[in-house]
This record gives sequence, C-alpha cells and structure tokens, in this order.
Amino acid sequence: MRVLGIETSCDETGIAVYDDERGLLSHTLYSQVKLHADYGGVVPELASRDHVRKIVPLIQKALQDANSSAADIEGIAYTRGPGLVGALLVGASVGRSLAYAWNVPTIGVHHMEGHLLAPMLEESAPAFPFVALLVSGGHSMLVRVDGIGRYELLGESIDDAAGEAFDKTAKLLGLDYPGGPLLAKLAEQGEGGHYSFPRPMTDRPGLDFSFSGLKTFAANTIRDADDAPQTKANIAFAFQEAVIDTLIIKCRRALKQTGLKRLVIAGGVSANTSLRSAMTELMDSIKGEVFYPGLSFCTDNGAMIAYAGLQRLKAGQTTPLSESVVPRWPLDSLTPL
Ligand code: KG4
Ligand code: ZN
Repeated sequence: MRVLGIETSCDETGIAVYDDERGLLSHTLYSQVKLHADYGGVVPELASRDHVRKIVPLIQKALQDANSSAADIEGIAYTRGPGLVGALLVGASVGRSLAYAWNVPTIGVHHMEGHLLAPMLEESAPAFPFVALLVSGGHSMLVRVDGIGRYELLGESIDDAAGEAFDKTAKLLGLDYPGGPLLAKLAEQGEGGHYSFPRPMTDRPGLDFSFSGLKTFAANTIRDADDAPQTKANIAFAFQEAVIDTLIIKCRRALKQTGLKRLVIAGGVSANTSLRSAMTELMDSIKGEVFYPGLSFCTDNGAMIAYAGLQRLKAGQTTPLSESVVPRWPLDSLTPL
C-alpha cells in the first residue's frame, strides 16, 4: 500500500509518500520559521495562508520525487489534530479533496501519534511495549505504549511544554524564534557551575511536569546578570541542564513504574544532542534501550503522518470525508488497532 501524508498542524508544511513494502519514497518540508520570526511566535492566520500557498506544489514535488503518480496513491493521511484549527483545516481540506477526486480512502492522524511512531521509520525500530517521552513545542508527555492506538498517559506538563520553555527562555536571552535549537547551540559555549536552576516537580512522586517556573527563574537570573556573551551561554547551559535532568528523573521513574526497559524519545526537543546523550547514558546504566527518530523526523514532518496513517488504513480504519479536524484531541482516546 502507498500513502500520501500531509502535515499542516502548525508552522511546517510536510508532505511524504510512504510505501509499506519499499519504505519512505519521498518527503518534502517547507518551514514557515522566517515568516513568524518577527512576531516572536506563530501567527495562526499567517500560518494557514502560507500552508494554502505551499501545499499543492509540495504535493506535486513529493509525488515526483517518489516517482509516483496520483494513480499509485492508495490512501491519504492528513493531520487531523491537535494543532491550530486554521492550519489543520488546510491539510484536511486538501487531503479530503484529493481522496474524493482520486477515489481512495482517507485517514485523519493524531499529530502526537505521528511523533510517537516516527522512530519506526528508522532501521532499528522499537518493539512494543515501550515508554515514550514526547517533547515538542506544544506537548510534554510520558506514555506507556502497548501497540498502535494503545496509549496510557503516565504524565504530562501541567503548564508549558518542554519546547515552549526552551523557546521562551531563548527569547529572554535575545535569541530568535524558535529558540530551542539556538539555545542548545549557545549552551555548547556555556560552562557549568555558575547557575543552578530548579528541577521542577522532582521532589514529589508522580510523572507530571511543570516547566513554566524555569522560564521565570531564567527571567530573574537574566535580570540580575551582566550582558556578557559568556554569561548568556552559562545561563543557557544551566537552563538546558535543568530541563534534561528533570526529563531523566521522570523517565527513570516511568520505566521503574512500568517495569519496561525500552524508551522512545520523540518530538522537536528529541533533536537536542545533550538530551540524547544523557538519555543514552541513563538507558546504558539500567541495561535498557533508547530509540529516537532520525534528526529530520524529530520536528514536524509528513513522513510520520504517512507512516501512522498507513498503519491505520491497512487495518481498515478510515475517517469519513464529512468529519472535521480536532484541534484538541487527547492521545489516549484513539482507537486501538
Ligand atoms: O515537534 P515540533 O516540531 O512541533 C510541535 O509539535 O510542537 O517541536 C518544535 C519544538 C520547538 O519548541 C523547538 O524549539 C524545539 O522543538 N526544538 C528543540 C531543538 N530542536 C527543536 N529544543 C531543544 N533543542 C533542540 N535541538
Ligand atoms: Zn509536532
């Protein structure tokens, strides 16, 4: 089966063609980062309009790169939620229109299920069950995964997501949006031992996160510090260290609680190299295994949507053309395969 995947939940238009026998045939991505940079965050109306401009040429390119024509596509997967309603509507409308015109089934995919299954695109894919740490710009969750659609939410952020905390702290440090990757780069020049950020919610039991306090702590630290580049790098280092430490503590706890030894880390923040090496160290110490998506599949992309959609379409699931998008959609409410 060959599926066209469409991702438009936020500020990236991602299109891919995935074939269950031959794997990923093509993927294209257009990031709107520059469009939103001046505003310091995503402007929903601008995002929707830009998806409208980019989506059809990108679909044409993805088909061409995959050496496929419309006649080769046997299903269409689009991101149905969660995300920005206007942005979701662009992908859903185009996906459903093509499905109608080409007379193929369509499936609305949960964006976080896409992230969670992204490591399956890699050669060494994890086997079920596993614990997944999902850390993106909109969500931070720990999930027990027993199969596709079999998700038990173990914990989540009660305020800011991890990526959001990175972006907000980066902004305080004077970095452009989205600041996560820029803050990580600045932290490489930083030195430990100068600042000590708290590890929120680690002193009590439970698997929920809270990251908004770190941003406030960063604001106060920056206010009281000098303006030297090295000082900023040291602050970035201490902030990143605190986020990673907190995530490590919660992952260790989740693995202990579930008795599992396999960990998947996905979502935009899973691209962070310091987080990856700290998690690898953790899993080595407990003789477990950790899995990540490839670097280009950590942040939003069409490949993860095509992959997740294909699994569901193959199992006979479809989303009727009359169904609309779901901007708020709990991950643990999905239908199991
Ligand atoms: O998954 P994603 O592309 O979009 C959402 O679904 O939210 O995640 C984007 C988030 C942003 O907050 C971005 O700053 C963060 O992931 N991010 C990073 C890194 N790369 C992306 N955060 C820390 N370090 C990175 N290397
Ligand atoms: Zn995402």
